[in-house]
Amino acid sequence: GATRYEAESATLSAGGTVDANHAGFSGTGFANAANAVGSYVEWRVTGPASALTFGYANGSTAARPVDIAVDGTVTAAGVAFPPTGAWTTWSTVTRQLSLPAGSHTVRVTATTADGPANLDYLDVTPLAS
Ligand code: GCU
Repeated sequence: GATRYEAESATLSAGGTVDANHAGFSGTGFANAANAVGSYVEWRVTGPASALTFGYANGSTAARPVDIAVDGTVTAAGVAFPPTGAWTTWSTVTRQLSLPAGSHTVRVTATTADGPANLDYLDVTPLAS
């Protein structure tokens, strides 16, 4: 199965906080990155992998798009994190990718002033064998 990297263990840009005030998250909390263009959450993960799955909640009425960068290079731009209906309703966004063996950074960076959705975890799916 996938390896889970909790957002509470990730790196947040300035102004981000690890919160636990909206129930239903995995682990001990979730990342509430700042409401600003450029605010980000970054994980360090181990490949090889074939997919990234982000657990998130978006209780607002608008998508919270992010650029997804691997090792500093944007591999998927403007990926929508659609509304989930409530901040306590958690869903997932999955992107296929080919992540080589070894250690990598995965950073999601907000492209709108709303910032990213609340991010709960990153699941890294290994290569099928
Ligand atoms: C609310 C919510 C936060 C969320 C924020 C947002 O304040 O309680 O958890 O991060 O909205 O709009 O990003």
